[in-house]
Amino acid sequence: LKVTTKSGARNKTAPFLHGLFFEDINHSGDGGLYAELIRNRAFQGSDVTFGRVPNQRGARIVSSEAEIPWAPTLTAWGPIGGAILSLDLVNPLSEALRTVMRVDIPQDAVGEVGFYNEGWWGMDVRPQNYNASFYIRPNGALYAKNVTGVKVSLRSNLTDDIWAETDVKFDGDLSIHNYTKFETALEPCVFAPNSNNTFAITFDAKEAAGQTFYFDFISLFPPTYKDRPNGLRKDLAENLHNLAPKFLRFPGGNNMEGLSIDTRWQWKKNIGPLIDRPGRPGNWHYYNTDGLGFLEFLEWCEDLEIEPLLTVYAGYSLDSADIHPANTVPEEDLHIYIQEAIDQIQYATGSIDSPWGNLRAKHGHPEPFSLKFVEIGNEDWFSDSYYWRYPRYLEALKAAYPNITYIASQATESSIANRNNTIPPGGMWDLHHYETPQFFKEKFNFFDNWQEIAEYPGVTIFVGEYSVLSRDRAGGVDWENGEGRFVYPTMVAALGEAIFALAMERNPQVVTLSSYAPLFQNFNSYQWTPDFIGFSADPNQTVLSTSYYQQQMFSHFKGAETLPIINTKGDFNPLWWHASIEGNRVFVKLVNAAQAAVPLTLSIDFRIKSVNGTILRHDDEYGFNYIGNATAISPVKFTLKNGKGATITKDGSGGSLKWNVPPLSVTVLELQ
Ligand code: AHR
Repeated sequence: LKVTTKSGARNKTAPFLHGLFFEDINHSGDGGLYAELIRNRAFQGSDVTFGRVPNQRGARIVSSEAEIPWAPTLTAWGPIGGAILSLDLVNPLSEALRTVMRVDIPQDAVGEVGFYNEGWWGMDVRPQNYNASFYIRPNGALYAKNVTGVKVSLRSNLTDDIWAETDVKFDGDLSIHNYTKFETALEPCVFAPNSNNTFAITFDAKEAAGQTFYFDFISLFPPTYKDRPNGLRKDLAENLHNLAPKFLRFPGGNNMEGLSIDTRWQWKKNIGPLIDRPGRPGNWHYYNTDGLGFLEFLEWCEDLEIEPLLTVYAGYSLDSADIHPANTVPEEDLHIYIQEAIDQIQYATGSIDSPWGNLRAKHGHPEPFSLKFVEIGNEDWFSDSYYWRYPRYLEALKAAYPNITYIASQATESSIANRNNTIPPGGMWDLHHYETPQFFKEKFNFFDNWQEIAEYPGVTIFVGEYSVLSRDRAGGVDWENGEGRFVYPTMVAALGEAIFALAMERNPQVVTLSSYAPLFQNFNSYQWTPDFIGFSADPNQTVLSTSYYQQQMFSHFKGAETLPIINTKGDFNPLWWHASIEGNRVFVKLVNAAQAAVPLTLSIDFRIKSVNGTILRHDDEYGFNYIGNATAISPVKFTLKNGKGATITKDGSGGSLKWNVPPLSVTVLELQ
């Protein structure tokens, strides 16, 4: 390979190329990145099986929303000391939170009596401050004034250990007409040996026997990322930060669209006080609390110093488009949803003098957020009506916010009949690719000459969702969770994704944004595999995948400008490459997908002073990281020196490097 650093031959790289895509799937939000430790905190229900069958979009409704057996539950709650727990629907906490837990303490109760919550399959306990809060109301008929308070604790689920406990004094009578909110802190002094712990609220039976209380919105937060109230789980947010991402696409994905029009992700219902957020049945078989709401997403971007990429509802709910017309917004009503999107953008970006910007300020964020990218809908290649919906959104949104780049979720694609949306020049198109390694190898040239294809002049590409979903097999991708589908990202997945990322990096004028999907997998409850980051309640069990490490390397070692490489011998496959430059650092990315080393000779137009490298490799292409073996496949740093595994020489006025690129590897060499 011959690399030239001449300034005239360079192109600017895409500054936002590597980003994040997030939707609440696999308990990535509730039970994941959203730091709330209490599961089912407002008795809305948790994991629920709807009358749906999975397909490649994840879930397809087989009955209408009205027929879905949705019900609040006591999931994750259990009694202590004989208390009787039940759901109460007649003493709501708020308009939004209509189900509360009734706690009956039997006349003959002795000792401690109350209830516990088992968390999102456990709770991490360590010496730090936990903020606990709850709403309580006595049953008017029975409340006796001698109940002076409760104990709040973090305790082991396996032993008698109580890691932290505090008294909450009622300080006089509780109102029998309204709920009273209590807040307290728990400060364990030790690390619990495992995450099999619970949170408990208990009475002394001497005081409380025979009493009845209603509880709701019981919450427990550990310290959050950048100390945001109602914020993100620190360790998981740090994993995202360490990727050096440039943007966040949210809130979906399928989960933005809803199972019906009414249950779509509605930003107006997920802002403001938490007890005014009703939540919604998510598209991925569990209830979403919406504690991680629109403002929290924007603050997440602010804290990670990345750009938000907002996906707005385009009038389709899953699997509505042209299959269930009842779940598709009709043409005459579309203006309502377009206005909703206009208001939504004003909430994010408007000054405090605008109505929605003013509300944002009241919610604690007077400064407007930056918003450069808005996507209209999600995967609307399933639809026959996007071609008229998209221009209506585009026209109205552009008139209100001309400086935003709008992204279409469908365009003419010859492989799909009857889809004929036209994206005007200057627009962007979101492509999704869940594929096999072979597909990505074959598509290495996919974006070359893209702008010259008459159908897409002046249109750039956002690869909004991509990953290697299954191993190579006859018939292509294994969607059906059969033997071919990966449970965790493997080495060969990282190789395939790296090749596709090289295809993007070498076409920065075409592909400007990209994001892996899905982002998170709670090991205890998930709907989709493979995923980027696996986790459980115990931060020691987080697993960063091969795909995560590959992308981290690509994101960290990306120059400001691309460099041309002339290939003097040999073709791409089994080696793929790309080079870029920043200051005097030249980054050469190499992917070797073969089982054998590939000899590389690289010449460059300067004398090589140093070659530092980072490599991700594994002998078994189907190897993957997992709990207990979480860093089995992780980047290793090395230095190449003349005579020590490499030959580095002068080459005329330039330099030359000979090195055997190891089998099944992703490497970035940094030459100076
Ligand atoms: O990433 C999982 C799902 O895949 C997304 O929700 C959807 O956009 C795509 O079909």
